[in-house]
Amino acid sequence: MIWNPFQDPRAMIVPSILSADFSRLAEDCEDVLSAGGDFLHVDVMDGHLVPNISFSAPVFRWLHKVFPDLFLDVHLMIDEPVRYAPDMVRAGASNITFHVEAPEVASDLTSAVREIRKLGCHVGVTLKPGTSVDRLFPVLSEVDLVLVMSVEPGFGGQSFMPDQLEKVKILHPMMKEHQRIEIDGGIDMQTIGSSYASGVDWFVAGSSIFGAKDRHQTIVEMRQKIREWASFRQKRSHE
Ligand code: DX5
Ligand code: ZN
Repeated sequence: MIWNPFQDPRAMIVPSILSADFSRLAEDCEDVLSAGGDFLHVDVMDGHLVPNISFSAPVFRWLHKVFPDLFLDVHLMIDEPVRYAPDMVRAGASNITFHVEAPEVASDLTSAVREIRKLGCHVGVTLKPGTSVDRLFPVLSEVDLVLVMSVEPGFGGQSFMPDQLEKVKILHPMMKEHQRIEIDGGIDMQTIGSSYASGVDWFVAGSSIFGAKDRHQTIVEMRQKIREWASFRQKRSHE
């Protein structure tokens, strides 16, 4: 039985495997999980929606075989998320997050959310830094997750864009009990606290965890930062 982080209201630290050592992917993932990472974030890029190509289902299908109980949070930075979602779910995706800018879905986000949900996974939507948060509103009530990009999607190791927290502050009071806000890009010891105070629940972190000298200590300190900033966080209406 896969442990489902949507059933747990606590803040989640989610290592992004884009920064892993791909020559020993399973070992490196095992290491960040035993260091305290809650589950894994998986970045699929097609070189069209974003200016980089990463990997796809054949790669994380192997991770799913090695870690069959692990929740896989899949972030699709591709033009055709609905077309490829079935393959992703077959490969072990627990959650599929797609971009509202993707040409295949941009004119009908509601149908895209429903098509993907039919596959039996959780569904998230996300947006690039330059896209207005209003684009999410038509489907907000239908999704489980909203992912706010705090860098231009495509590469790990970029600097955090603090202005993107304005989107988090707008979304935070709108979230229902089962829904979560995730942030992705430039999350480290300096940026995690203010992100938590703004309303983020799940923190994707690539280079700051995989690149850390002491991964366990880094994750412990990230959780400590979250606790330090907790008094600045507004409560949601259901809390
Ligand atoms: C960027 C990806 C991120 C990336 C984050 O397009 O979506 O998940 O791995 O990397 P860091 O944490 O290094 O900014
Ligand atoms: Zn991502």
